[in-house]
Formats: sequence, C-alpha cells, structure tokens
Amino acid sequence: MYDGGKIIAGLAVFVLLFTFPFWYNIGNAAYTKPKLELPKDAKECVEKTEWMRAEHMQLLNEWRDEAIREGHHTYKNMVTGKVYKKSLTKTCLKCHAQKDKFCDRCHESLSVHPYCWDCHVAPKGDK
Ligand code: HEC
Ligand code: HEC
Ligand code: HEC
Repeated sequence: MYDGGKIIAGLAVFVLLFTFPFWYNIGNAAYTKPKLELPKDAKECVEKTEWMRAEHMQLLNEWRDEAIREGHHTYKNMVTGKVYKKSLTKTCLKCHAQKDKFCDRCHESLSVHPYCWDCHVAPKGDK
C-alpha cells in the first residue's frame, strides 16, 4: 500500500517537531557570550576573529592531520600570508595562554568538552 498524502503529512510533522528547538529559540536571547580574556601582546588571530569563532574546530582538525599524517607543519593566513606553526600548544595556546579564561570559559558556557587536554599540555593560566 502506498499513500503519498499520509507520508507527506507525516514528514511535515516530523520536520516541525525536529526543528522545534531552533525556531522556538528565535527571538529569545537565550545565550550571552561570556567575557573572554584576550591575549595582551597580540592584536589578531591566525585568521579573522569571526572566522575563527566558527571554524577553529575544523582548523585544528586539519592542523593535526596535516602535521601528523602529512608532515606539513606550516600554516599560512588566507589573507595576509603570515606563517604559523601548526601546533595546538605552541601556537594557539602561546597567544591564548589563559586557556581557562578563554577556551574553557567559552566551551563551558556552551557545554562543549574538547578532549584534547587528556594528552596535550595546557598552560596554567597567568604565567
Ligand atoms: C598570534 C596570536 C594568536 C594565535 C597564534 C592564535 N590566536 Fe586566537 N585570537 C588572537 C587574538 C588577538 C584574538 C582576538 C582578536 C580580536 O580582538 O578581534 C583571537 C581570537 C580568537 C577566537 C575568537 C574569540 C571570540 O571573540 O569569539 C578564537 C575562537 C580563537 N582565537 C582561537 C584560536 C585557536 C584555536 C588558535 C590556534 C589554531 C588561535 N586562536 C591562535 C590571537 C591569537
Ligand atoms: C567564542 C567561543 C569559543 C572560544 C573562545 C573557543 N571555542 Fe572551541 N568551540 C566553541 C564551540 C561553540 C565549539 C563546538 C562547535 C561544534 O560542536 O560544532 C567548540 C569546539 C572546539 C573543539 C572541538 C571539540 C569537539 O569535541 O568537537 C576544539 C578542539 C576546540 N573548540 C578548541 C578550542 C581551543 C583550543 C580554544 C582556545 C584557544 C577554543 N576552542 C576557544 C567555541 C569556542
Ligand atoms: C590520545 C592523545 C591525544 C589526544 C586526545 C589529542 N591529541 Fe593531538 N596529538 C597527539 C600526539 C601524540 C601528537 C603528536 C605530537 C608531536 O608529534 O609533536 C598530536 C599532535 C597534534 C597536533 C599537531 C602538533 C602540535 O604540536 O600540536 C595538533 C594540531 C593536535 N594534535 C590537535 C589536537 C586536538 C585539537 C585535539 C582535541 C580535539 C587533540 N589533538 C587530541 C595526541 C593526542
């Protein structure tokens, strides 16, 4: 038996329920970004701030794969061409030395728990 109408109605209900959390939140200022401690001796990140906010997880994954599997250790800023070493501790956390007041603070506010620090060394806040 095949009832196109029922299937489509079923799908519509499913999509509505499934996306409920998204449209329900529109207009609700449910999340306030915590105050982040920015590096004092640097003005810019390895890429634009907005891009970093959205893409840093993917960037780190690429850095890991390229550095470890392909032995390719240098990263070039897409706009300025400035060169960085592909390293979590030696690059990201060299500038963002106050990991607890930057990475952690943001992640905790969003319940994201990267497992990187099981192995990678994290600086202990203020030097
Ligand atoms: C040369 C120093 C430097 C390095 C290296 C660096 N950052 Fe940044 N990062 C900054 C600065 C400075 C800002 C804030 C820029 C601004 O005020 O717009 C920033 C901003 C960010 C932001 C956005 C914060 C926000 O306000 O939403 C994220 C996320 C971030 N960095 C993650 C990383 C990660 C992950 C790495 C390594 C892949 C990294 N940074 C490497 C200096 C650095
Ligand atoms: C402005 C807020 C913000 C800041 C600052 C920030 N992160 Fe994140 N980070 C996020 C969000 C949001 C996610 C989850 C994204 C997702 O699930 O798609 C995330 C995810 C990650 C992940 C992937 C975790 C996973 O389990 O998928 C890594 C790795 C990571 N961040 C590293 C860092 C490091 C290192 C820093 C500091 C240098 C940092 N982040 C700073 C917001 C931030
Ligand atoms: C089980 C242990 C372990 C975990 C967990 C882990 N790593 Fe690594 N990672 C390593 C080892 C080992 C290397 C190789 C170190 C070297 O050759 O210098 C490495 C290298 C890297 C590199 C390139 C070299 C460098 O100095 O940073 C990046 C980038 C990286 N990891 C990112 C991450 C991120 C991001 C996470 C979390 C999402 C993570 N790693 C979780 C063990 C781990």
